[in-house]
Amino acid sequence: MNNTKAYSAAGATSPLASTKINRRDPTEHDVQIEILFCGVCHSDVHQVRNEWSSVMPTVYPIVPGHEIVGRVTRIGRAVAKYKPGDLAAVGCMVDSDGNCPHCQSGLEQFCPNMILTFNSPDKHLGGVTYGGYSETIVVDERFVLRVPPNLNLAGAAPLLCAGITTFSPMRRWGVTKGRKVGVVGLGGLGHMAVKFAHAFGAHVVVFTTSPGKKADALRLGADEVVVSRDANEMQKHTGSFDFILDAVSAHHDINAYINLVRPDGTITIVGAPEKPLAVSAFSLLMGRRNLSGSLIGGIAETQEVLDFCGQHNITADVEVIPIQKVNEAYERLLKADVKYRFSIDMASLKSE
Ligand SMILES: NC(=O)c1ccc[n+]([C@@H]2O[C@H](COP(=O)([O-])OP(=O)(O)OC[C@H]3O[C@@H](n4cnc5c(N)ncnc54)[C@H](OP(=O)(O)O)[C@@H]3O)[C@@H](O)[C@H]2O)c1
Ligand SMILES: [Zn+2]
Ligand SMILES: [Zn+2]
Repeated sequence: MNNTKAYSAAGATSPLASTKINRRDPTEHDVQIEILFCGVCHSDVHQVRNEWSSVMPTVYPIVPGHEIVGRVTRIGRAVAKYKPGDLAAVGCMVDSDGNCPHCQSGLEQFCPNMILTFNSPDKHLGGVTYGGYSETIVVDERFVLRVPPNLNLAGAAPLLCAGITTFSPMRRWGVTKGRKVGVVGLGGLGHMAVKFAHAFGAHVVVFTTSPGKKADALRLGADEVVVSRDANEMQKHTGSFDFILDAVSAHHDINAYINLVRPDGTITIVGAPEKPLAVSAFSLLMGRRNLSGSLIGGIAETQEVLDFCGQHNITADVEVIPIQKVNEAYERLLKADVKYRFSIDMASLKSE
């Protein structure tokens, strides 16, 4: 019994198209949400096209979307935190076991039984979970987040992935006032990283392959912009960064950025390109540099991001699109042509 309109892809080379999926009735602890906006993350593209097949093969049909903002329509009888009419948000995860050491320390993203918002086993209905490119979603209240009422909803949706994914490693690695911070790749994640690093008081340098994004980078909060194809410009920053965040979605030479990190400084990868990156041992040895990774963030920290953004009035710069333009948006993401996040107005699904 399929009761909800959605957009899905039938295979790795199929476009997304209108469909119907089934959502469960809210159980005791569930919150049913009418989805108003859903951001388009490059991870949606990677997974629709099965580019992460070696780590998490895509199960078709896939309904992507994990930057969800909407309004509560129904609640289970044990739900205390939300009531119908409340604004609510859902990010990359919808469940975890709640009792492993990772869950206990607020790092649900590392729980061995964590369930992603899409393409994870669905313990309620069988098959896999379906994401936010749909009219509604039903989620355990532990994984539902509060949206500060002052935020623009289309621009708030990307905070649920692009926001937490960039905020979390910068907090972990001590991005504060006076630190020199690099952001590689000015896309959805990168532009949020610039906003946060600027808000934390850091000196922010953006590395971009797109000379046309220079003025935007400065407007978003960068202090300097380097077009990364210019070897001379890159050279000037050798060994000088406290922290660099690499948010590039495609294959690139990461050593060019490792070399810019100061001794004992850190470069963190959040971008997840399809193929492995080659790391030069010497780039790391010279200067005892740290190379690390980061995966989204826990639920408590995701709420912290939303609250921080509410206080500082930070949202993503979005291009709002109807769901019917989502395939075009994917093509533009592949050309690094996004300013700086697509946010789907889910009202457009009603006409399907
Ligand atoms: N770790 C996590 O938890 C997590 C969470 C969400 C997303 N991700 C991953 O993070 C990556 C970025 O996601 P996103 O949504 O921000 O993507 P996006 O909006 O498409 O931005 C990616 C940016 O990377 C740069 N880029 C693209 N192709 C490049 C190339 N060939 N060489 C160098 N730079 C290139 C471009 O910036 P310029 O034009 O400035 O060069 C582009 O705008 C994706 O791989 C995504 O799957 C990871
Ligand atoms: Zn994402
Ligand atoms: Zn757990």
